Amino acid sequence: MTASLFSPVTLGEIELSNRIVMAPMTRDRAGPGDVPTDLMVAYYAQRASAGLIVTEGVQPSPVGKGYWRTPGIHSAAQIEGWRKVADAVHARGGKIVMQLMHCGRVVVPANRGFDAEVIAPSAIPCPDKVPGPDGVPQDCAMPRAILTAEIPALIEEYAQAARNAVAAGIDGVELHCASGYLINQFLNPVSNQRADDFGGSVENRIRFPIAVLQAMAAAIGPGRVGFRISPGNPYNGMDPADPAATFAPFVKAADGLGLAYLHVVDMGLTELDTLALLRANYSGPIVTNNNLKADSAAALLEAGRAEAVSFGRAFIANPDLVERIAAGAPLAKPDYARLYTGEEQGYTDYPVWAG
Ligand SMILES: Cc1cc2nc3c(=O)[nH]c(=O)nc-3n(C[C@H](O)[C@H](O)[C@H](O)COP(=O)(O)O)c2cc1C
Repeated sequence: MTASLFSPVTLGEIELSNRIVMAPMTRDRAGPGDVPTDLMVAYYAQRASAGLIVTEGVQPSPVGKGYWRTPGIHSAAQIEGWRKVADAVHARGGKIVMQLMHCGRVVVPANRGFDAEVIAPSAIPCPDKVPGPDGVPQDCAMPRAILTAEIPALIEEYAQAARNAVAAGIDGVELHCASGYLINQFLNPVSNQRADDFGGSVENRIRFPIAVLQAMAAAIGPGRVGFRISPGNPYNGMDPADPAATFAPFVKAADGLGLAYLHVVDMGLTELDTLALLRANYSGPIVTNNNLKADSAAALLEAGRAEAVSFGRAFIANPDLVERIAAGAPLAKPDYARLYTGEEQGYTDYPVWAG
């Protein structure tokens, strides 16, 4: 039974017609100037029957770009591009929030197409390799440690990006605090060895992430701001040990802000019952993710463990995932060779279920 997936739900100011969320997925198909293209408009419009779409990670500034052909939300042309995406999703009755992703130290400079600094909480490089323009993994650049005096401007970049997203007609923003990018680099002790008020104790490590959430909430209203975490995820050189020690205080501090939702990539890599930890420390709506199937997702909702569920890979190959789940139809498999390449191939050419 999957009926629980199909009831409406309100996340802050955002009303969803069902509880099936499309998870954020980087697809490397932005155009010159990191502007969303008409192909991206078509891709998101095809998937608009999701209760909510979370866009691919979008850089709030040029310095936040780490991957090949990822879109931004800091130029007038980018805002106009996203307006077309938002309008197309809304025309089909959907809702869409933008994931704000500053890569911090996870940068292959050749992916940018322009010269810009690489910055991080501390001058410690990401130990993982990242695909370059040709798709071949390369070492990440050595970052420069962010100066304490630079922090207010960095916070403001996120707030301005949130304003830009709303100006484009996007319904809200999701702060990417997962997977080893800038916010996660502040949260994790292995990448944050700062001696100022933004490093060291957990109270200090959560200070920048909370300040960014506060600034975005002040900019566009807390009911339009969500955030995404992945406790215990070792991706991009994060230390996965003892995630509760950081994430319990982090979500507890965020709880007072009245945000739209908390999105969790529940990886199940540790003994920790992540959803129970979040419920104990966070009172707002929870969207849960990772390796869910229609039945397991519905079971989580029925057990009251989350308010909504998100699917990533299933949305790649099934633009009509919501209709397929409703009909009990089989799901198509993604073409993994074309996740980040192929333009329309493996992107907008997956058919809807023919019945
Ligand atoms: C191609 C691809 C790109 C992804 N890009 C992002 C991203 O930009 N931001 C993010 O938070 N997660 C990203 N993810 C992770 C997904 O949002 C999701 O957490 C993951 O796929 C697990 O969900 P699933 O089992 O339903 O696929 C990406 C995943 C895939 C497959």
